[in-house]
Amino acid sequence: MSQDHVDAAAPRRSIYRHALAVRLTHWLNVLSLTLLLMSGLQIFNAHPALYWGDKSDFEHPLLAMTAADAPDGTGIGVTTVLGHEITTTGVLGLSFSANGRPVERGFPSWATIPSYQDLATGRLWHFFFAWLLVLNGAAYLAYALASRHLGRDLLPTRHDLAHIGRSIRDHLRLRFPKGKEAEHYNVLQKLAYLLVIFVLLPLIVLAGLAMSPQIDAGFPVLLDVFGGRQSARTVHFIAAWTLVAFVLVHLVMVLVSGVWNNLRSMITGRYVVEEEEASDGR
Ligand code: HEM
Ligand code: HEM
Repeated sequence: MSQDHVDAAAPRRSIYRHALAVRLTHWLNVLSLTLLLMSGLQIFNAHPALYWGDKSDFEHPLLAMTAADAPDGTGIGVTTVLGHEITTTGVLGLSFSANGRPVERGFPSWATIPSYQDLATGRLWHFFFAWLLVLNGAAYLAYALASRHLGRDLLPTRHDLAHIGRSIRDHLRLRFPKGKEAEHYNVLQKLAYLLVIFVLLPLIVLAGLAMSPQIDAGFPVLLDVFGGRQSARTVHFIAAWTLVAFVLVHLVMVLVSGVWNNLRSMITGRYVVEEEEASDGR
């Protein structure tokens, strides 16, 4: 994230915001996470219920997706969350095939890889992209440490933390920084990215590894940390959806803070900073 070109005529200038390594690893990450989620939902569909502890207590799932018969005899989808039943026909529990036939399925075919029920193929996709995610993450971390991207661009400064209140207020009003301040991530962005990189993604990876019998044999402590295989599966699932929530907020922020400028910066590296007007009213 360094400045290198100034357009004197206009009150805006172009800066070089994202290094090639960050851009490449970001988009490879987007690809891996999308395919991991969709193949993960295929795996989930093989037994669409979650439990806590070491064993599956079929009578008391934390979450379950099933199909049932409505009083008029038609099929409905029912999702049970902590004992509360919700009708989710068409999306969860029961969805419709391309020719309109009702099919009993946890997640619908458009959300899974492959689209038809095939656990073995889903697992092949999942494990392939799990490795890609880990290798890509290692490459990103190596670059971020070696180039000081982590310390310089992602770690909040004392000044950032002292002004976090103003940053939150500005964000809620959808006011984004201009001039010098716009050259760097704001404190909320930094904290969100750090949480995803150092808490959420490692949690998903560890919970995923904890479900693998080969890894457990070598590191039994991993299963103890999660409190059993079913707990690890539930943590993995919840963390995956927390990541989806982050991506939704991330996308909204990309959209409202200048979609083309942001996307260009993540593709070519170039980002246009608007200069601050003389009296900004702040
Ligand atoms: C799939 C999950 C995604 C994750 C985990 C993710 C995560 C991140 C992270 C950690 C950064 C900061 C990178 C750094 O500076 O080291 C970032 C930046 C960015 N991401 Fe994503 N991202 C995801 C998806 C997307 C998608 C789908 C888009 C757009 C369609 C997008 C657009 C951007 C842009 C434009 C930036 C640069 C922000 C700026 O310059 O202010 N991201 N993302
Ligand atoms: C290194 C990374 C990962 C590893 C090692 C991993 C491993 C696993 C394993 C072993 C399973 C259960 C397989 C089975 O029961 O046969 C699983 C399921 C699943 N994974 Fe991952 N995974 C990883 C990353 C991810 C990511 C990033 C996401 C989401 C974006 C994700 C979403 C899911 C989902 C939704 C399931 C289904 C839950 C279930 O029914 O068990 N995984 N994963």
